[in-house]
Amino acid sequence: MRAVVHDRYGPPEVLRLDDVERPIPKDDELLVRVRASTVTQTDCHMRRARPLLWRPYLGWLRPRSRILGFEFSGEVEAIGAAVTKFAVGDRVFGLRNGAHADYLCVREAGFVSRMPAEITFEEAAAICDGANQGYVNLKGAKVGKGTRLLVYGASGSCGTAAVQFGKNYFGAHVTAVCDTPNVDLVRSLGADEVIDYLQEDFTKSGQTYDVVLDAVGKHSFLRSRRALKRGGAYAATDRLYNFPLSLLTSRSKKKVVFTVEGHPNPENIVLFKELIEAGKYRPVIDRVYPLEGVVEATRYVDTWRKVGSVVLTLNGTSA
Ligand SMILES: NC(=O)c1ccc[n+]([C@@H]2O[C@H](COP(=O)([O-])OP(=O)(O)OC[C@H]3O[C@@H](n4cnc5c(N)ncnc54)[C@H](OP(=O)(O)O)[C@@H]3O)[C@@H](O)[C@H]2O)c1
Repeated sequence: MRAVVHDRYGPPEVLRLDDVERPIPKDDELLVRVRASTVTQTDCHMRRARPLLWRPYLGWLRPRSRILGFEFSGEVEAIGAAVTKFAVGDRVFGLRNGAHADYLCVREAGFVSRMPAEITFEEAAAICDGANQGYVNLKGAKVGKGTRLLVYGASGSCGTAAVQFGKNYFGAHVTAVCDTPNVDLVRSLGADEVIDYLQEDFTKSGQTYDVVLDAVGKHSFLRSRRALKRGGAYAATDRLYNFPLSLLTSRSKKKVVFTVEGHPNPENIVLFKELIEAGKYRPVIDRVYPLEGVVEATRYVDTWRKVGSVVLTLNGTSA
């Protein structure tokens, strides 16, 4: 089967298409014929292996896992002997390493679900990564009904999901911060207020918030501090130094919350599917490339200018 592989760390050009062995499903696994995947910031972090702290996990000198890609949608091609909840031909989506390939295996009990009705493979592939990151961090920061929530980086894949979950699931009052071209999009996702960061610095407006979610990892606790209410939290989605900061500030009046999830919780995908079917969440897609365009797609993701997700299509049309 075809797969995008990388044998060393580096720029997008380390990625190349190769023929690799098709995986064989274990008893508790589904074999999925992948129809769409995405290029995410997670893929880019893994491709660069920066910061170096990633290396014990990824491999010191070269990547232990050659195939990137984390989000997928596709059709179940075969099932293991012990699988009971899925059948051959089911349209599924989820999170699993190695999704930039024609086929992947995922545990029936893993982060996988049948696709919501009336959704394309392209849309289904873009549901989970940013959504899980946004959801887990809003939950970790204890966002709830009436919380004054500010989402910084509201137009990225995590940000677009966080705005929708903040408003439609947690019941917060959402202020979204983004660049001028994305103001209308972010408003259409349900933000109560939108701040164009090219026109206004939210930390200097005099407004204060219970939670500042830095959905893109480009702000900081120090800069956000004065926009936090007493008892408020800066929720970080990136930058490992936020972890010790979260410990240091855990008893402070203004603190850092850094929520780490070892493995995505499969209960979350069920929630995402329900929210999509209820019209409360929709994935935002920026560009779509064929698998062969993975280097170009990755160069674009590396610019940090994508809006929502960048999708790769495989195995024919994805309608
Ligand atoms: N640990 C995990 O499992 C996990 C999973 C997913 C994501 N993450 C992390 O979550 C973060 C967000 O990922 P993502 O996929 O949502 O990113 P993304 O989609 O690539 O973010 C792109 C968006 O960020 C905005 N942006 C770029 N630079 C900015 C700046 N200096 N200030 C404000 N906004 C800026 C851009 O909007 P404008 O043009 O409007 O500025 C663009 O729309 C990343 O740090 C990623 O590593 C972690």
